[in-house]
Amino acid sequence: MKKKDYITTESYSKEEILYLVELSLKIKECIKNGYYPPLLKNKTLGMIFQQTSTRTRVSFETAMTQLGGHAQYLAPGQIQLGGHETLEDTSRVVSRLVDIIMSRVERHESIVGLASNSQVPVINGMSDYNHPTQELGDLVTIVEHMPKNKKLEDLKVVFVGDATQVCFSLGMITTKMGMKFVHFGPKGFQLNSKHRMVLDNICKTSGGSYIISDEIEDIKDADFLYTDVWYGLYEAELSEEERMNIFYPKYQVDDEMMEYAGPDCKFMHCLPASRGEEVTDSVMDGSNSICFDEAENRLTSIRGILVYLMNDFMKNNPYDKEKQCNAKKNLEDFLM
Ligand code: CP
Repeated sequence: MKKKDYITTESYSKEEILYLVELSLKIKECIKNGYYPPLLKNKTLGMIFQQTSTRTRVSFETAMTQLGGHAQYLAPGQIQLGGHETLEDTSRVVSRLVDIIMSRVERHESIVGLASNSQVPVINGMSDYNHPTQELGDLVTIVEHMPKNKKLEDLKVVFVGDATQVCFSLGMITTKMGMKFVHFGPKGFQLNSKHRMVLDNICKTSGGSYIISDEIEDIKDADFLYTDVWYGLYEAELSEEERMNIFYPKYQVDDEMMEYAGPDCKFMHCLPASRGEEVTDSVMDGSNSICFDEAENRLTSIRGILVYLMNDFMKNNPYDKEKQCNAKKNLEDFLM
């Protein structure tokens, strides 16, 4: 079976990403106006979660229902990934039972392993490396809220705080679109050399650029200011006391920081947020906050990704119409 996965946007061209944005917005417009295109009729999505989720889980399930398909939620701990049954076997089995797979994994190698052993397309619903469905939703949100007098390539997007997988993902998608990306974070919690190698590679051809800084001056004139929780990843998880000592108050997005970034600067957050830590209530609930539009656009972009991958799969693996007709006739004759 020939298939395309959505594991990282590194393997997607700028044109392909822009096509996905357009497709997502066209489907959004249809559904907003009461037309639910049955583009995934009879298709089943298997959703394997190694961790909990609100936005990703609800968005995938809603998207499948709205487009005429069905989603199966395989909760954390309900299915083994690399436990008693090997990852390869799990992938081989599940991909024979569903039409498309989405998985949120702890380790990036798990999603890579799932994809390489699956017969059907696999979508990365977040790993310790990246969060590509969040990326596309964020890009859709940026497109919807960007200043009218600017092009994508003119935009400056700042991520404040810990170098989470969302920070790295935002760096990848913004630089791929030719934007200027800034990671403003404390030393020891900045994007590392592996991240920088990927961003350098993207910038070589995209015209985008990035800087990593702990100087507040570098956030000035931002069009979008973005933050995420300060927890640290998995075994490197920080206690509340540790994270406040490291990030607070310099890296908390408050009204003063927003004003410093620019009067029209929009606030983004992948959510869930720890209000009072990385962001104040006043910013999150303020008039420049677009974080709830951003949450809604998880669904917008996930519909686009699902349709894109299934369309590509059906184009590359078309049904034989003659065999289909014969099978139908055989069944009807048998049931007579
Ligand atoms: N932003 C995000 O991925 O949210 P969930 O963890 O709730 O899916």
